[in-house]
Amino acid sequence: MIRFTEFKKEKVRYSVQGKGRTIVLLHGFLESLEIFEELSTSLSKSFRVITIDLPGHGQTSTVGYMHSMELMAQCVKKVMDSLHLRKYVIAGHSMGGYVVLAFAELFPQHVSGLCLFHSTAMPDSEERKKERERIIEIVKQDHKKFVSELIPKLFAAENISILREEVNIAKQIALDTPTEGIVAALLGMKVRPSRELVLKNARCPVLFIIGKKDVILAWENLLLLTSLPKISYNIVLEHAGHMGFYEAPVETFKALRRFSRMCFEA
Ligand code: MLT
Repeated sequence: MIRFTEFKKEKVRYSVQGKGRTIVLLHGFLESLEIFEELSTSLSKSFRVITIDLPGHGQTSTVGYMHSMELMAQCVKKVMDSLHLRKYVIAGHSMGGYVVLAFAELFPQHVSGLCLFHSTAMPDSEERKKERERIIEIVKQDHKKFVSELIPKLFAAENISILREEVNIAKQIALDTPTEGIVAALLGMKVRPSRELVLKNARCPVLFIIGKKDVILAWENLLLLTSLPKISYNIVLEHAGHMGFYEAPVETFKALRRFSRMCFEA
């Protein structure tokens, strides 16, 4: 069920599906809660699943010129408080994972388990920061061109023709993202700090979902992070790029279900 609340006096859209212990799914850059349609429906047979349009994405308003990962985490907290939910597993895809780590740093008492889904605790390299600036200029000129070229690269080459419908859905969601939301997220990602310590100090279990063919975040680098948390699990999706929920939907769903059950039993 789609619902709305407010954050900084602006609109936030989220959805609630299913009953039981709660899993929160946070989408990535240029995405919206629709990206998790299949995954959240599958998980909602066993859990209450909350998906949220992060600021400047989907139907949630842009609230500033820059959306830091902390600001996005505060928006997530606002939604969870409005539902009176206190403990949950929280999973984030890529930029959503950066928000998960900011959330775990700010509100550790609410987290039963963390999942970094094609995501990292490392900050942007100097090169990546420069690239963000370049992309901001491109997006301001013509965000459609940037989006149309970027989205197919998120999928492993071997999956693009098989998953044509999913590529088009992802493209359409990205095209619907407002320019000011895109720029605010790029600036926020650029200034995010390292959150390796959040992983190191996590008291809850951490799950890493990694795509072997991810061209955004190399799987070898992500695998190095899996040794940081005290309780750490990982799954490497052999045939996935950056979009595991589309490219390996069953493995992804089963990994998250198993992990969440284990977190709630702990
Ligand atoms: C994402 O998919 O959310 C982004 O690629 C993350 C990033 O640009 O660092």
